[in-house]
Amino acid sequence: MTLLVIGAGGYLGGELLRRAPEAAAPSSIELDVRDEAALFDFFTRTGPRAVVNAAYRRGDRASTCDGAIHVARAASVVGARLVHVSTDLVFDGEKGSPYVEEDDPAPVSDYGRDKADAERGVLDVYPDAAVVRTSLIYGGPEPGPQERMAADPDGAFFTDEYRCPVQVGDLAAALLELASSAHAGLLHVAGADSVSRHQLAELLSGGPVRAASQADAAEARPRDCSLSIERARSLLRTPLRGVREVLNAP
Ligand SMILES: NC(=O)c1ccc[n+]([C@@H]2O[C@H](COP(=O)([O-])OP(=O)(O)OC[C@H]3O[C@@H](n4cnc5c(N)ncnc54)[C@H](OP(=O)(O)O)[C@@H]3O)[C@@H](O)[C@H]2O)c1
Repeated sequence: MTLLVIGAGGYLGGELLRRAPEAAAPSSIELDVRDEAALFDFFTRTGPRAVVNAAYRRGDRASTCDGAIHVARAASVVGARLVHVSTDLVFDGEKGSPYVEEDDPAPVSDYGRDKADAERGVLDVYPDAAVVRTSLIYGGPEPGPQERMAADPDGAFFTDEYRCPVQVGDLAAALLELASSAHAGLLHVAGADSVSRHQLAELLSGGPVRAASQADAAEARPRDCSLSIERARSLLRTPLRGVREVLNAP
């Protein structure tokens, strides 16, 4: 086996498979990352050369954090190249300028904590792994979560929460490029434009959407998790386009 995609049934995983149709893509039932013994068995039987782990489940630390560490351990035992997918939400959004790879995580949500602990655990057990922090994913052939939210007439979008949305094809191409590289450690792979959730929803829907403020949210949310992609741009051939360029917007 050359490439294994974990989480292939998901939004990003589906795009990885469109771009690497030869990859092995077990479902979450065939290969559950919470089951470390089953993972070891699968990895030793099939011997993947490279693995992209795009699996997670919101609210399930056993999948998002423990499962990610199980995958890293199994990959390190068989010597498979590992690219693990993380998130900009490991940060608290208070820096005031784009986050670089050296900035310390300070998550404000359970999801952010699970992902931050997963990153640390993955690199502890497999320092040669690449851990990719990304941002809101959009732009697949079928409407994804961002497009569906933007099309919801009852939706309201924060004008005071900033992210660097990434087109799913750009992200998948970058992850596959990293799978055949030797880059070890953290890397920020996101879109070039920092936009508010409100700006993103208007760009995706192509018309006006209702505005909201983080002050209206029930839970604490990071204000500005924009990522610096300087390092990725110097390492990768894959272009990381901003959402305005992708959507042909001014
Ligand atoms: N979407 C975004 O905007 C965004 C932003 C930043 C970072 N990320 C990160 O990007 C990655 C991919 O996100 P996504 O939006 O593509 O997620 P998604 O659409 O929810 O897909 C997640 C996949 O993980 C699988 N999975 C869940 N628990 C599993 C388990 N225990 N064992 C094996 N597989 C399991 C799911 O299986 P089922 O098919 O059974 O559900 C699904 O196929 C994640 O690491 C996420 O944290 C996403």
